Amino acid sequence: MSPGASSSNKPGAEAVPVPDTPEPGAQLVVVANRLPVDLEQLPDGSHKWKRSPGGLVTALEPVLRRNKGAWVGWPGVADAEVEPIVEDGLSLYPVRLSEREVADYYEGFSNGTLWPLYHDVVVKPIYDRTWWNTYVEVNRRFAEATAEVAREGATVWIQDYQLQLVPKMLRMLRPDLTIGFFLHIPFPPVEIFMQLPWRAEIIDGLLGADLVGFHLPGGAQNFLYLANRLAGHSTTRGTVGVRSKFGEVSVGFRTVRVGAFPISIASAEIDELARSKAVKARAKQIRAELGNPRRIMLGVDRLDYTKGINIRLLALQELLAEGRLEPSETVFVQLATPSRERVDHYIQMRDEIERNVGRINGDYGEVGRPVVHYIHRPIPRQELIAFFAAADVMLVTPVRDGMNLVAKEYVASRNDLGGALLLSEFTGAAMELRQAYLVNPHDLDGVKDTLLEALDQAPAEGKRRMKAMRRQVLAHDVDRWARSFLDALALGKESRP
Ligand code: ADP
Ligand code: F6P
Repeated sequence: MSPGASSSNKPGAEAVPVPDTPEPGAQLVVVANRLPVDLEQLPDGSHKWKRSPGGLVTALEPVLRRNKGAWVGWPGVADAEVEPIVEDGLSLYPVRLSEREVADYYEGFSNGTLWPLYHDVVVKPIYDRTWWNTYVEVNRRFAEATAEVAREGATVWIQDYQLQLVPKMLRMLRPDLTIGFFLHIPFPPVEIFMQLPWRAEIIDGLLGADLVGFHLPGGAQNFLYLANRLAGHSTTRGTVGVRSKFGEVSVGFRTVRVGAFPISIASAEIDELARSKAVKARAKQIRAELGNPRRIMLGVDRLDYTKGINIRLLALQELLAEGRLEPSETVFVQLATPSRERVDHYIQMRDEIERNVGRINGDYGEVGRPVVHYIHRPIPRQELIAFFAAADVMLVTPVRDGMNLVAKEYVASRNDLGGALLLSEFTGAAMELRQAYLVNPHDLDGVKDTLLEALDQAPAEGKRRMKAMRRQVLAHDVDRWARSFLDALALGKESRP
């Protein structure tokens, strides 16, 4: 299959041109479940590349592109035979997954077991031995592919919950490498993690790294505790992120450092784009297309049950029913990227959300004037920023989220200091964006009251909050995040015996 095959202009699918073969031996290698671009099979049998979904790619792609690094990952479709390629300075090394592996490793163990387990068992995780065996097999394949790509003494940065066994597997294959691991989702409380039948193997796998990073100090603490109690290694106690930046685990003669590194976005780029004439004009046009309502609320998410999309819809429905919101004055736009569409809980959640959208529009909409606008496909980057710029209140209501980059993207888009951010306390972002309208998504009355407060905020109050949040987001961008992780990793390497 030729990766550069053909392209189409389906909305939201940003086609990516693809040339060249990479030079062997990369000095910086990122390993992630997905490549930053996904191969899409079109109905006529041809293929095209499009940007992959999710926060991991949003964060890492610009960093790696600037460093001319290599990226090892799955091209997003089963059984795709794709040769390594260079795309805009970045070398991409595809790892092939069969239909069965996609079902058992990706949809199964990664997204039917680990994802719900690590998100506070918000739905019930499934513990299936076949899925686990495939997870081990696929992790080994990623480790082997990486061992072939990395130059002698290279730095390898492994990403996320799909690849937690790779650090140890890779160390056994290539002891010369410096290995970092970063978890993009929450690391759960110890009592929850202990449910996992393969808990010891996961901790052991992660301890193959020289540095293990989490978004928040709490995740690092939980991991340190398990490294000690479950794996029997001695650890330095220290409160990660408060008294000291790192905890340490002694694994034989090695020291594994453990720390908190809250991820971020390319803030300056988004800020610049939001200031552009084109985006400003499009934001105005979006408001007009929505009928110039008094207030626009916006949700932007992967369609995932952790994101609390139904909580927003329920809050809206009750506020309309109670007459506290006027349907002719209020519009809610929900932009939802399709995600993990064959996993059961995702199928159920999508049905529920779409039923609720229909119900609200049936009860409160008019012909040509729905209250909820729901779009189930990815939106191109520039268009997304225009939506952020047009929205009076951004609704970010996950029941649990490692960070939530959307919250930061909204703030970076508001150089006009307009808008308000309604933000769940259960996101990593809430630790940094203290001036948001913080809500407990489980407290529906609290969400409703705070939403009204945000909708009716005085302009001066809104500006004060947005200014403080922008200071945080613009100063702590994704480059700073990557630099702090890679510097910590390099420091660990220097102090190795
Ligand atoms: P996650 O990693 O769980 O998907 P994040 O909020 O951290 O959640 O990151 C999501 C990324 O995907 C953000 O960069 C966001 O802009 C992007 N995104 C989310 N929804 C859409 C959408 N409907 N269209 C295009 N991009 C989207
Ligand atoms: O940040 C969590 C995460 O799972 C990333 O690993 C991934 O890039 C993103 O969400 C999208 O999920 P998926 O790769 O399953 O579509």
